Amino acid sequence: MRVSVIGCGHLGAPHSAAMAELGHEVIGVELDPDKCRALGDGIAPFYEAGFEDLLARHTSSGRLRFTTDLAEAADFADLHFVTVGTPLREDGRGYDVSQVIGAVRSLVPLLRGPATIVGKSTVPVGTVARLQEIVDAGARGSGVELIWNPEFLREGHAVQDSLFPDRIVVGLTSPRAREMVEEVYAPILARGVGLIVTDPPTAEVIKSAANSFLTTKISFINAIAEVCEFVGADVNMVAHAIGIDTRIGHGGMRPGIGYGGGCLPKDVAAFTHRVGELGARHAHELLSAVESVNAGRPLAAVELIEKANGGPISGRVIALLGASFKAGTSDVRDSPALRLAGQLAERGAVPVIYDPEALAAARTLYPELAYADTAERAVTDADLVVLATEWPEFTADPKLPVAAAGLVRRKVLVDVRNAVESGMWLAAGWEVWQLGRQPQLPEAH
Ligand SMILES: NC(=O)c1ccc[n+]([C@@H]2O[C@H](COP(=O)([O-])OP(=O)(O)OC[C@H]3O[C@@H](n4cnc5c(N)ncnc54)[C@H](O)[C@@H]3O)[C@@H](O)[C@H]2O)c1
Repeated sequence: MRVSVIGCGHLGAPHSAAMAELGHEVIGVELDPDKCRALGDGIAPFYEAGFEDLLARHTSSGRLRFTTDLAEAADFADLHFVTVGTPLREDGRGYDVSQVIGAVRSLVPLLRGPATIVGKSTVPVGTVARLQEIVDAGARGSGVELIWNPEFLREGHAVQDSLFPDRIVVGLTSPRAREMVEEVYAPILARGVGLIVTDPPTAEVIKSAANSFLTTKISFINAIAEVCEFVGADVNMVAHAIGIDTRIGHGGMRPGIGYGGGCLPKDVAAFTHRVGELGARHAHELLSAVESVNAGRPLAAVELIEKANGGPISGRVIALLGASFKAGTSDVRDSPALRLAGQLAERGAVPVIYDPEALAAARTLYPELAYADTAERAVTDADLVVLATEWPEFTADPKLPVAAAGLVRRKVLVDVRNAVESGMWLAAGWEVWQLGRQPQLPEAH
């Protein structure tokens, strides 16, 4: 099939490469000329595990190309994915859907024959109805279908999740639209992946509900971590034991500094605002509590760092391992690690940040913070080491605790992701502090 992907950011770029991998001929449309040029040259403009290889493979095979010209894509493709951004509005009161409206409004008049528009951006309930009016008013002839196909990929796993999703949800209104979906996703559906076909408003709510539930789980276990700190209990053990019940599960149950990134914070904020507007009082109260717990997590981490330090941290040099909002991506949008760095700096400490992939993005966003180009440089002469993003090279590489032990002033690790294999740090003589747990001391090992 000939497909276009309009908006080649963190979702659209991996999606375009995945569509080429599925065998389609793909044209990506990206407004930003630098990003567009890099993508066309097979160079990923951001780090996403496995993405650059797939991009390079298909830009050189000729199955994937990029343009800034929407008309070229309108002429070329039969099916158009819309993957542009939906940031939070500046006043925080819901999404700014202008990129989505703008993309569809520009595309529709350019379509010369039957075509299918498949929206993947995350939008507030009611947006598809607005877009349908634009399609109905602007399409030159009949035969332009609009489908909503919310995306559930996880950054850091974007390639894997695009090629091997656990379900495909589509909101549509005609048998022809369904045929198009079945055709574009045929190789995935042939593997038995479930296709959930529903109406557009239900598809919109499915996406918002999925993200809200994920964040509810994260904030729930973080609230329990707070309880554990009061009573001297171990939150990791609590999460493990309750997660055995399949109604609860283990996914999303690791305590830490809270959720971040380009999606969850804005999606929950926008949904909270929307349910408030709708008058869904209980949903509003629930989601507001989820947001409030999350907003408090960097402070909980600062308090743990102060405890581990034995008092105020002013003047302390703190090696901060991790800047991206999670491992596997260079995305620093709404990164809890950088929020934490800001709070440490506000208290007079000197965070020195290292990240294997996100340094450039972090430097651009927060030029006032201090950075190191290697983990070793970041920990040199540090009073404390804080693990802020769960990259495997921080959590599972046995060489790091040994190498770092000889470079720091004090062997104190504060793991605000509850992610390290603490045994190897303890064996190298470190104290290990984690949220919702008693400190682990090397003597006890
Ligand atoms: N990032 C994720 O993991 C993820 C997962 C699921 C859903 N989503 C949703 O997908 C959407 C995109 O998210 P993202 O993280 O990729 O955002 P992003 O900001 O990284 O990418 C959006 C891209 O669209 C481009 N763009 C905007 N208007 C355009 C136009 N008219 N024509 C061509 N390009 C245009 C921008 O230049 C940018 O590169 C959002 O609604 C988001 O909520 C994202």
